[in-house]
Amino acid sequence: MPDESMSAETAESGPSRAVGRTAVVIPAAGRGVRLGRGAPKALRPLGGTPMLVHAVRAVARARTVSLVVVVAPPDGAATVRTLLDEHPLPDSAGATDVLVVPGGETRQESVARGLTALPDDVDVVLVHDAARPLVPVETVEDVVAAVRGGAPAVVPALPVTDTVKQVGPPAPGALPGAPEPVVATPERALLRAVQTPQGFDRATLVKAHEHTPSEGEGATDDAGLVERMGVPVVLVPGHEEAFKVTRPLDLVLAEAVLARRRATDGF
Ligand code: CTP
Ligand code: MG
Repeated sequence: MPDESMSAETAESGPSRAVGRTAVVIPAAGRGVRLGRGAPKALRPLGGTPMLVHAVRAVARARTVSLVVVVAPPDGAATVRTLLDEHPLPDSAGATDVLVVPGGETRQESVARGLTALPDDVDVVLVHDAARPLVPVETVEDVVAAVRGGAPAVVPALPVTDTVKQVGPPAPGALPGAPEPVVATPERALLRAVQTPQGFDRATLVKAHEHTPSEGEGATDDAGLVERMGVPVVLVPGHEEAFKVTRPLDLVLAEAVLARRRATDGF
């Protein structure tokens, strides 16, 4: 067990941090509307195993991660606890604790609830979507290392491959699918698509969530909340396999990635 005295170390920047524990909050309380009908997205199977179980294993495999907080659908915490007990972590995950807490109406609320479950000795927190079940362990470790190296907020990201257009507000009474007016074309070379796990100095992330009340659909990106406080956010290289399962075609891709892993390294 780490020394209790280390929990006081919450400096927002600096060359390095005194070492407390690193925890990962996994928001998994969404319904998965864009995936279509069925069970909550995080509970749907991928290669026969629930997506959430893949996500928990992926982050627990990181040597630096010693606690995972799963944020379950509001009425599904008991179901998720049972599911995780039925799919124990492999020995390679070492001694990683897994807590389950109920989530909220928006992702932002769900993450905030996960943060309240963190014990005092955690000083670095990652937030990782259950919907990114195939993130490689190297990406997780890279994010932890950058936070431990002194960055208060670290986000894995990839260059954007599609050209992106900004549109204006829809004309009054416009139906979905109606032509939309283009107002700008941002320079693609300056754009990045962000992924998770996003990593933070714990005190910074907690403050960012307290600072920003959840409105409407809430924030879909934790680093965005930190940016709004004027705290610097940095990007590190993400990974293609950390893509988010959002629409049905993403499930096809995820199954293909799993099949390739099984064929090449018996994963
Ligand atoms: N999430 C959450 N609580 C919510 C909404 C979302 O914990 N109230 C989680 C999802 O479970 C997912 C992550 O946030 O792991 C990213 O959200 P997204 O991909 O949008 O998932 P869903 O909200 O489930 O999907 P959709 O928006 O299509 O309904
Ligand atoms: Mg959503």
